[in-house]
Amino acid sequence: MIIAANLKTNLTRVQTTKYVQSIEKFLDSENISQEVLVFPATSSLNLHDGKVIIGAQNAYPAKNGAFTGEIGVDHLDEFSIKTILIGHSERRHILGESQKDIVNKYNFYKALGFKIVYCIGEPLKIREAGEDELLRYLDAQYEGIDLDYENLVVAYEPVWAIGTGLTPTLEDIESLHLKLKEKCKAPLLYGGSVKVTNAKDVLALDGVDGVLVGSAALYAEHFCTMISYAQELESK
Ligand code: 13P
Repeated sequence: MIIAANLKTNLTRVQTTKYVQSIEKFLDSENISQEVLVFPATSSLNLHDGKVIIGAQNAYPAKNGAFTGEIGVDHLDEFSIKTILIGHSERRHILGESQKDIVNKYNFYKALGFKIVYCIGEPLKIREAGEDELLRYLDAQYEGIDLDYENLVVAYEPVWAIGTGLTPTLEDIESLHLKLKEKCKAPLLYGGSVKVTNAKDVLALDGVDGVLVGSAALYAEHFCTMISYAQELESK
């Protein structure tokens, strides 16, 4: 399974280094064989040698250049980063990234062979409009995206479940994941208010290949507990 932590705009470089070290220690001591990804804030990226895969939350689709406030491939290369999160709802809705921007970014990082964790998810209004509307909305977020890319991981994160403590029911997560899997065979993570108390149930669902965790992952101990749930489920 894939257990991923999106640290968003949290944890300084010093805090992130400590955080990643404590996760490495846990992976070693518990003999964890799951894939663990951590996406630190941009200024907390650093060289890392270990099992945890460090990814970027964002980067501009350029090697370098005049893109104020952004980083490019040169900056990722400095830390040997080959994994990137693309299409997160906070970038779509707060930072105003359009599907066109996202497709550009996707194609650029795909051409470089990056592992891409590609996020999709609907706002509450769409969820309330019924399943047809929901599937149409998610389909539009696949527009222009090569779903056969071998280094693709998809994360389904309903916008209304992010940071709210709300989640779809387990039945809803499972049935939607199974539908999404028909469209795209890539590993499919669930994200949105995953925490220690619900991670085991979510990870046990059909069609769920892992989780992408925000706030609850800020506590290394909680994140490690979720990793151990995945390990337990896989060794059954
Ligand atoms: P929360 O786990 O805080 O709901 O955030 C989920 C998320 O956005 C992960 O990318």
